[in-house]
Amino acid sequence: MEKTTSRLNVGKACLATCVVTAVLLFGSTAGRAQGTADANLTSNCSECHGTDGLGFKAGIPHLNGQPAALLANMITAFQQGKRSTKVKMHRDIAAADVAPLASHYSQQKAQRPKSATKPELITLGETLYQNRCADCHMDNGRDSDKDAPLVAAQDMSYLIAQTLAFKAGERKFPYLMDDAYRGLSDEDLTAIAHFFAAQDQVAPQAGRKRRR
Ligand code: HEC
Ligand code: HEC
Repeated sequence: MEKTTSRLNVGKACLATCVVTAVLLFGSTAGRAQGTADANLTSNCSECHGTDGLGFKAGIPHLNGQPAALLANMITAFQQGKRSTKVKMHRDIAAADVAPLASHYSQQKAQRPKSATKPELITLGETLYQNRCADCHMDNGRDSDKDAPLVAAQDMSYLIAQTLAFKAGERKFPYLMDDAYRGLSDEDLTAIAHFFAAQDQVAPQAGRKRRR
């Protein structure tokens, strides 16, 4: 315990000096030590998404392991006003930082904390998922077709909020997802969110299913 605390302090102290030293020696981008470079790149994001991509509290999505191309799409959608956001910083990300940030978060392998889920909702959610969502959010949400984000083990409050935002028209449906939602009640959609949130982010068995 004590060991962890002291390492943390050293880490923080080093962060400030190392960044200054690196900037003085090499300029702002070239030549930074990897750890420092990542901390520097994600410094604006880490209070909410961490450096490892794990959302810090309910309602903040986990970014770790999401394919880089999809993360880049999401950021671009915020910047172009195609997707609304309450976080002003999302719109202010420098164009040159989009690809490095997307690449960084896509490579993080931290374990996502599990949201609290209700077994009876997971069962209903699974049936609805198989009928309505599995074509694009493949392999229980661990894989993707048609640019669907990976949603397995995603934060449940976030999933429910986004689901309702699509339904209310606050977030624009992607191609054909409106068909998949048609006729589903809020309870049905909440059940699918429970199902996604309850999944392991990475399939427990070897031989995980890949793209068709
Ligand atoms: C104050 C907290 C906060 C900060 C800081 C923040 N985010 Fe977010 N982020 C959120 C929330 C909340 C959402 C959910 C959607 C929304 O409301 O914008 C989100 C959504 C996202 C998404 C979409 C995820 C998905 O699954 O669709 C991406 C990508 C993202 N953030 C990247 C970043 C990056 C990169 C940074 C740093 C440059 C950053 N965020 C800074 C809180 C934050
Ligand atoms: C035809 C393909 C398709 C089908 C079917 C589909 N989705 Fe999606 N889904 C997408 C795409 C593409 C996105 C990304 C949209 C965007 O960012 O604009 C998405 C995004 C989402 C998100 C937001 C994820 C995030 O990280 O922000 C949720 C939640 C979601 N879908 C739930 C569902 C549910 C529930 C169903 C079934 C009722 C479903 N989807 C069916 C393609 C699909």
